[in-house]
Amino acid sequence: MNYPNLTINTEKCIKCGMCVKDCIAHCLELNQNTNLPQFKQGKEWTCIKCQHCLAVCPTGALEIFNKNPDNSESISPINSEELLNLIKSRRSIRQYKPENLDKERLDKLKNMLKWTPTGVNNHSLHFTFVDDIEVMDNIRTMANKKAEKLLLNPIVQFFVPHFKGMGKAIQEGNDVIFRNAPHMVIVSVPKNAPCKREDPVISLSYFELLAQSMGVGTVWCGFAYYCFKLFPSLAEYIGVPDGNRVGYVMLFGKPDVKYSRTTQPDDVGMNSATIQSEREFPVLTLIKRFLTNILG
Ligand SMILES: Cc1cc2nc3c(=O)[nH]c(=O)nc-3n(C[C@H](O)[C@H](O)[C@H](O)COP(=O)(O)O)c2cc1C
Repeated sequence: MNYPNLTINTEKCIKCGMCVKDCIAHCLELNQNTNLPQFKQGKEWTCIKCQHCLAVCPTGALEIFNKNPDNSESISPINSEELLNLIKSRRSIRQYKPENLDKERLDKLKNMLKWTPTGVNNHSLHFTFVDDIEVMDNIRTMANKKAEKLLLNPIVQFFVPHFKGMGKAIQEGNDVIFRNAPHMVIVSVPKNAPCKREDPVISLSYFELLAQSMGVGTVWCGFAYYCFKLFPSLAEYIGVPDGNRVGYVMLFGKPDVKYSRTTQPDDVGMNSATIQSEREFPVLTLIKRFLTNILG
């Protein structure tokens, strides 16, 4: 890790201690004589690089990791109704225009990805983009060939009968895996990352919402995810870093379908916990719950 290089602009610092209070790693303190923030002795290395100290400082007096607070963006209020409408109107897009997305929107989507939260602020995600529809077509052909062979294998079909229909669809030239999408993003993560399951999915959730707010269609692609898992040569071909596990896959591009209204999903299960004395569960129920939580 880089040395944190904490620099305080003594003219701007009002010694409010907010940087110290908001430090999750508890590695900052106010100097007893000057009241200026500083690292606790030897604690520089516990800093998780979250930059909360830089972000929370009301006067922009604190620089860390050579990040000048003047280069941060200001925070504008968000219209929650618009955000809620975006969440409600987001749809999985499976009809795409057979053309590349403009560079401006592609770059905006890519640049956002460093802001998505990761466990322990680990930020070790890697994004492999298929920027060009010709490359996508190449991958599509390779993956469909491999998938068709696997899905039409009688032994595989014996264990998973519904694979037969999918195999036939691919045989007939339907791109049931990649939905004829012109682009794809594969997020991968080192196997030792602290939140290797969660971080990729969170990043693509952010990606999806920003994309759809910009008129870019997206669809989560479990089928492609399993293709990359089952056929490691495909992951290698597109440049997923060696040693990374594929976290998830999202297809995207200019949509060739327009939805006129939101869907009307059924209510989800929900409960609100209340204060009550701990209930006694039979031992078997507790064991079942424990296993479900751990292995689930
Ligand atoms: C984890 C995950 C994996 C998915 N995999 C696929 C997929 O492989 N192919 C596909 O067409 N849709 C896939 N979907 C999209 C769902 O089928 C979709 O969310 C559902 O049909 C409801 O449509 P909506 O997203 O427009 O509400 C996936 C969604 C999620 C969350």
